[in-house]
Amino acid sequence: MEDELEHILEKYKAAGKILVEVREAALELVKPGNRLLDVAEFVESGIRDRGGEPAFPCNISRNEEAAHATPSIDDEAVFGPEDLVKLDIGVHIDGYIADSAVTVDLGGKYEELVRASEAALDEAIKIIHDGVSTVEIGEVIEKAIKERGYKPIVNLSGHGLLRYNSHAPPTIPNVKHEHGVILKTNDVVAIEPFATNGGGKVVESGNVEIYSLIKPKPVRMREAKKLLNEIKKYHGLPFARRWLPRERLNLALRTLKNTGVLRDYPILREENRGLVAQAEHTVIIKEDGCEVTTSSISMGD
Ligand code: CO
Repeated sequence: MEDELEHILEKYKAAGKILVEVREAALELVKPGNRLLDVAEFVESGIRDRGGEPAFPCNISRNEEAAHATPSIDDEAVFGPEDLVKLDIGVHIDGYIADSAVTVDLGGKYEELVRASEAALDEAIKIIHDGVSTVEIGEVIEKAIKERGYKPIVNLSGHGLLRYNSHAPPTIPNVKHEHGVILKTNDVVAIEPFATNGGGKVVESGNVEIYSLIKPKPVRMREAKKLLNEIKKYHGLPFARRWLPRERLNLALRTLKNTGVLRDYPILREENRGLVAQAEHTVIIKEDGCEVTTSSISMGD
């Protein structure tokens, strides 16, 4: 039993290691004029080349977009000279996930905002240990962002990571909240503060490029049936439209969505079109601290 747990934790850590390598290499490509699609494909193939699988499509959300943006099929969009870019990457090995995000400020105008999200993440990680409550984490994040003059996004949260479940309980709000959950040794969670100069909330907008399988159900349309078979391999984890076979794809997706087989993830943008910065790491809770699986700084153990 002990051994099995160790074995599982090793997979979480190996996923984190792949993520760090791919993230650092991909950051070199987040430059004005480069295509978002090239970065997303670089990340996803980099993960596979190293023996992992993407736990979700590479998210590249810009400016007022906070999450769930990923390039479309043949997307020609390029980074602008002043884009505030969130690169959110997920890797899994055998279902055990690492999830991490960084913000790149291409114009160099929003350093303070980026720093607010990073400081909130650092300070949250510092207080995490066996027995910490999500209430304390939310408080620390909220305080770090507010004392730098920004707002945390109240309806985006950190989350647990379970096998083939990239948004498992507990929810870890980025603000003070009631009914907290106590984190225990060997729990694996993602901490992800979002800071904004807008209103502090996200709303759904724009095209949907990301989906996940809720539950297979019988469908009649031939292409929908084929598509359903194809997406079973993601084990319920989110996947991108551009990963799918293109044969009558829109109709097949709509059919599955309307049958309740799929859920979709519309792009989330700040309600007042404020700018959004995000910082995220995955941590394993330990007796007297935590181990960050997605940190580029080696702890030298
Ligand atoms: Co996350």
